[in-house]
Amino acid sequence: MSVDLTARPAKQARLIRLHRLLPKLMRDPVNGLAEIGMATGGEIVRLDLGPFRPYLVTHPDHVQHVMKGNWSNYLRKGMFWRPLERLLGNSILGEGPGWDSSRKILQPLFTARYVAALSEDLADTINEGFEALRPHEKSGEPIDAGVEMARVVNKAVIKVLFGSRISDPDAERVAPAYTTAATSIAFRMLFPSAPYSIRVPGDRRFLASIKTIEEVMFPVIEQARRERSEGKDIVSALCQARDEQGAEISIQQMRDDLVSIYGAASETTGMALTWLWPMLGENPEVEAKLREEIDRVVGRDPVRPSHLPHLTYTKMVLQELLRLYPSGWMLPRLVGTAEELGGVRIKAGSQVLISPYATHRLESFWDRPLTFDPERFSPENQERRHRYAYFPFGGGPHLCLGQHLFYIEAPLMVAAILSRYRPVIVNPGPFKPLPAPSVRPSRKVEMALLPIERA
Ligand code: HEM
Repeated sequence: MSVDLTARPAKQARLIRLHRLLPKLMRDPVNGLAEIGMATGGEIVRLDLGPFRPYLVTHPDHVQHVMKGNWSNYLRKGMFWRPLERLLGNSILGEGPGWDSSRKILQPLFTARYVAALSEDLADTINEGFEALRPHEKSGEPIDAGVEMARVVNKAVIKVLFGSRISDPDAERVAPAYTTAATSIAFRMLFPSAPYSIRVPGDRRFLASIKTIEEVMFPVIEQARRERSEGKDIVSALCQARDEQGAEISIQQMRDDLVSIYGAASETTGMALTWLWPMLGENPEVEAKLREEIDRVVGRDPVRPSHLPHLTYTKMVLQELLRLYPSGWMLPRLVGTAEELGGVRIKAGSQVLISPYATHRLESFWDRPLTFDPERFSPENQERRHRYAYFPFGGGPHLCLGQHLFYIEAPLMVAAILSRYRPVIVNPGPFKPLPAPSVRPSRKVEMALLPIERA
């Protein structure tokens, strides 16, 4: 289905009143928003959230317009982004000239070929990370899937960004500092106009977590600059990079970009892989097929990058996982200049909410949208899809830089676990999605790691 962006005369977007929204959003905000998208069939609506009234944009044609067609009119600024600025600085996750220069420097570093060059080290880190769970297999003591996925993802991301420059104890300080930063800004997200001169709940923890992150990052960056190292990691590459004027990148910019990439790379991947286990638990036929592929391709050996081209079903499972649980479930934008979109007037200075989570559930684009079915991503089924019916990695000039990394790291992780253990969820779902920067289950996903019976 396609929508003519210009045909009808512009009108005001339909307003969904607070009394209709509130019960849905109180009960389950993430699904509540998706239900509005489903009920309106992709029509642009305005949400009456009291003091502010964002537009909800779910139809793929409109998403394409905001993310790509007229992207420079839809800025990553405003109330949703402001609280993050103290952590991220002026970086690749921002907007304007700071973002532009970071993008030019960083994009060449995340090509498929460059990431492939790091993949042997990544595989070692991942195999080691999951081998460390053997005591749970022996004792039967369940693991917290979210904690263990995050632990291994953090080690992997640190390897890619910093090589061996960050010690294990420092790595173990940084990871929880990020979690604290992500969870302590809730108040400022709700009241973004509160001035920084006023202390609000969460501020102290937020600032302390930034301090911890910087205490680890600055010395590493400074040392890499002094040594002019030629390693494969991203810090080394940034030390060698030059901007358009041929100048070195400042230490502050390196800090801002590294802090931002670490954040963008770790929580997203860790949370997505946490959702995998409830999905497999609810879909035993998918789990059996996945396990069969990993048995056949990897067996009981440690997984290697050379296995990846043969893990085709694993990739389909991950693609379907990111359809139902796209970590970046909400991509807010600030409207620069008023314009017309999908027959409605979009006001300057207002907020537009794009939600892959909602668009990925539109019935007009997805058959049985709530069913977990990796076959949607078989080569035959992929081709006919609207480019913006599926956009877990965003699109246009802000397209995620981490896609290649994700499709190396995540299949290695899934294979590293399933070639060693048979995970079984011990606290069955349903698991409600919680609105956080990366959509997360509202309670722990606990799993026993049973031994694999040898054939
Ligand atoms: C499940 C995994 C991931 C998901 C679902 C995801 C999703 C996204 C999305 C939706 C955006 C667009 C944001 C926007 O338009 O406002 C984005 C941007 C970005 N992602 Fe990812 N991401 C993932 C993993 C990674 C990884 C592993 C990296 C590591 C390099 C990464 C680095 C970035 C960066 C640097 C940007 C900003 C790009 C720009 O604005 O120019 N992401 N990601």
